[in-house]
Amino acid sequence: METKVLVVGASGQIGTELVSALRKKYGKENVVAGDIKNPKSDSSLLNGHFELLDVLDKEGLLRVVEKYGITDVYLLAALLSATAEKNPSFGWELNMTGLFNVLDLAKENKVKKVFWPSSIAVFGATTPRNDTPQRTIMEPTTVYGISKLAGERWCEYYHKNYGVDVRSVRYPGIISYGALPGGGTTDYAVDIFYKAKAHEKFVCFLDKDMELPMMFMEDAIDATLKLMDANSSDITIRSSYNIAALSFTPHQLFESIRQIVKYFEIEYKPDYRQAIASTWPASINDEVARKDWGWRPKFDLEKMTRVMLENINPDLAG
Ligand SMILES: NC(=O)c1ccc[n+]([C@@H]2O[C@H](COP(=O)([O-])OP(=O)(O)OC[C@H]3O[C@@H](n4cnc5c(N)ncnc54)[C@H](O)[C@@H]3O)[C@@H](O)[C@H]2O)c1
Repeated sequence: METKVLVVGASGQIGTELVSALRKKYGKENVVAGDIKNPKSDSSLLNGHFELLDVLDKEGLLRVVEKYGITDVYLLAALLSATAEKNPSFGWELNMTGLFNVLDLAKENKVKKVFWPSSIAVFGATTPRNDTPQRTIMEPTTVYGISKLAGERWCEYYHKNYGVDVRSVRYPGIISYGALPGGGTTDYAVDIFYKAKAHEKFVCFLDKDMELPMMFMEDAIDATLKLMDANSSDITIRSSYNIAALSFTPHQLFESIRQIVKYFEIEYKPDYRQAIASTWPASINDEVARKDWGWRPKFDLEKMTRVMLENINPDLAG
């Protein structure tokens, strides 16, 4: 049976690039981009099918699934960590009801496979901070982290009890030069490149030494496609897989950029996002993903910095 994909939340930081990668893989007629907001007129999302949809509207979602004969749904619509802290009840509503609507489509056999990303935000201050294991103490203190942890438990539940083929990774902070990030605690690591490219001073909302796990977009997309391609029988984790690529502090990223942008300056003014970040791991153990489906990242800090500075378009940040 031919794969027909729907990406929900396609206009965001990850969706924009995931749609391009999926269209390359499956052909543009087989990949539908869906979002609650219309893409800009010059967006690459409009190089194929686009549907305006709200993941909270289950009937609307089903209409799109039936219209295109969708087999695989990638659910990216969510309220991210910093934004959800400002609107906890809506963060919970969007992140949970959106997930249930998609999982139920699979439970009712309307679609075959679901990808839903979790996050390193599922961990908390009581989690071992270094080399955080796949299975460990998980006491998240943010709405976002609570919703992702609950989502993971529901994914496993739908798999065990209803046979739903749902697959997930815990993305770290994603760094990219395509669409702008959507309100997460690791957004500084993207914002800094816009300032460096514009030769402006960067004011960082995290502490100089706040080490966090990060990943370049190309690796994140690669992980997503690899996991979705894996044999179902090789997938031993139906909650969500740890995946790791790099870990660095704002200061280390600044130094890496300064190897190329010599007169770049930074100032540290931590805000409420520092409190969120301080409960998250510094580095992640991803041996289970490596063993189960061959996960391997390709980008280190130096390579990522170079590619970001080569490709970032300062006009995007306005
Ligand atoms: N970007 C990261 O660093 C990161 C890290 C960990 C996990 N994640 C997860 O990956 C997923 C995608 O993240 P992102 O960074 O691309 O987010 P984003 O905020 O950039 O994009 C989310 C998209 O969802 C859309 N959306 C919002 N409400 C919707 C609704 N009701 N119906 C349909 N679409 C709706 C938004 O318009 C937006 O285009 C999220 O689940 C997020 O939690 C992201």
